[in-house]
Amino acid sequence: MRIVVVGASGTVGQAVVDLLRSRGHEVVTVGRSSGDVRADISTADGLTHLWEQVGEVDAVACAAGEVPFAPVTDLTSADYSSAWEKKALAQINLVRTGLDHVAPTGSFTLISGIVSRDPIRTGAAASAVNGAIEAFVRAAAVEIAPRRINAVSPSVLTESLDVFDAFFPGFPPVDAADVARGFVKAIEGAGTGRTIELP
Ligand SMILES: NC(=O)c1ccc[n+]([C@@H]2O[C@H](COP(=O)([O-])OP(=O)(O)OC[C@H]3O[C@@H](n4cnc5c(N)ncnc54)[C@H](OP(=O)(O)O)[C@@H]3O)[C@@H](O)[C@H]2O)c1
Repeated sequence: MRIVVVGASGTVGQAVVDLLRSRGHEVVTVGRSSGDVRADISTADGLTHLWEQVGEVDAVACAAGEVPFAPVTDLTSADYSSAWEKKALAQINLVRTGLDHVAPTGSFTLISGIVSRDPIRTGAAASAVNGAIEAFVRAAAVEIAPRRINAVSPSVLTESLDVFDAFFPGFPPVDAADVARGFVKAIEGAGTGRTIELP
């Protein structure tokens, strides 16, 4: 398949790219500051540029997104807006603008995160937008068939424990390589409207 991976230089994204290439797929990498195509998916111009450069694909995979973490008593309206625009709305608009560029039986795979179902301190904005992404995936799947759409929802990454370990007490971490297997399941498998939880 020809697959575009947004966030390809990140911890998750690099593992996704490596696994997809090892399985024989052609991968087009996207990021704001690196990749085959430089595009910011949180802006309309960025999405226009992305699709002009990428063209037609069989699958879209997104491993991008930024969310502020702070105590719920400190999170501002601007923080919630930022989380929405840079993680949830960016991915929703990636799907919305990508529908005409994905094969009729192609797929979208978005990224959410464990805190939608298992909250942590300082994670209210992340919980809110991850839940929104998963709800969007369930809803969009109903209408875009036979194209498919799923979300991958990782626990804290093993590779990120140096920064996040204290925020995820007792959570089982997941290796980026295993998160990448979730993307492969979504892309090569048959499911739609699902959130693939890892672990
Ligand atoms: N790390 C964890 O433990 C963990 C756990 C659960 C869920 N997640 C979620 O998984 C996703 C990836 O996490 P990560 O740790 O792999 O992040 P990361 O290492 O910071 O990588 C993020 C990647 O996305 C790109 N990117 C960010 N915003 C973008 C935008 N608006 N348009 C295009 N590219 C963009 C970045 O490159 P440029 O800066 O060049 O654009 C980078 O390649 C995030 O949504 C995060 O919330 C992470």
